[in-house]
Amino acid sequence: MGRVLVTRRLPDGGLDPLAGHDLVGPNLDDTPYTPEELRAYARECDAIVSLLTDRIDADVLDAGAQSGRLRVVANVAVGYDNIDVRTAAAHGITVCNTPGVLDDTTADTAFLLILAASRLASTAEADLRTGRWKGWGVTQYLGRDVHGATLGVVGFGRIGRAVARRAEGFGMRVLHHARHSTDEPGYVADLDELLAAADIVSLHTPGGAATHHLIDARRLALMKPTAVLVNSARGTVVDELALAEALHDGRLFAAGLDVYEREPAIEPRLLSAPRTVLLPHIGSASQATRTRMATMATTAVATVLAGGTPTNVVTPP
Ligand code: GLV
Repeated sequence: MGRVLVTRRLPDGGLDPLAGHDLVGPNLDDTPYTPEELRAYARECDAIVSLLTDRIDADVLDAGAQSGRLRVVANVAVGYDNIDVRTAAAHGITVCNTPGVLDDTTADTAFLLILAASRLASTAEADLRTGRWKGWGVTQYLGRDVHGATLGVVGFGRIGRAVARRAEGFGMRVLHHARHSTDEPGYVADLDELLAAADIVSLHTPGGAATHHLIDARRLALMKPTAVLVNSARGTVVDELALAEALHDGRLFAAGLDVYEREPAIEPRLLSAPRTVLLPHIGSASQATRTRMATMATTAVATVLAGGTPTNVVTPP
């Protein structure tokens, strides 16, 4: 049995796999621990169940390694750009994530953004709620059709593929880009080419240094002025300020975002940008999926502490 830091509140049932272990945390009001607190807990715990709001950096991992106690960090998320996986590996600390259990829920969110942004749903709803809508008009809220449009999926892992499957049902033409050829119909090796061809672009790459500002001002300028950009991956993949300026200048039709560069801070130019749907990082937020994610992470911790190897181990790049 081990001592396990659980950094934030988990959905009901999420802690069940850790029955019998000595649990530490979370803060009663669910606020994230400070870096100092994380370092202190890393020193005295055998495992950490973290969320993407926790920076498990070299300092935290070094502290866990110095005491010789910390054996596993399990992130309740599929993304793990908040964890320094190289340092963890150097210390022999196992890192786990939650692949496979949130693909469809996250793809649903991407499609929600595709539809809402293309059809100007947030702008129209805001007008209705604030009394600016004075009655039906044939020229009001003219969006872009999703059915029949060309969708460019950037990043063709499990979630990107789940979005592509949904797009088939909408009669869309689907192109996809990935770092390595998929050898599948619709693969476009050159990201610039995909951006220029797509009516709607949906991002599904991991975060981290390799994809930082993958969609920058130059690439935004390659997109059609009638195009829609959707990001439900990681905020850092898009240069947020450049995107906001493109929307303000009418160089891009609309955007749908679930993730931001400096969460929970939102770029003010983005908040004031027209034709923009902004969600507070709810990609995987269904009751069932968040429970599955928590259970998967805590099961991995229990497995490592029992001397086993979980299936969901992250390997450093
Ligand atoms: C959510 O963003 C996740 O990575 O699971």
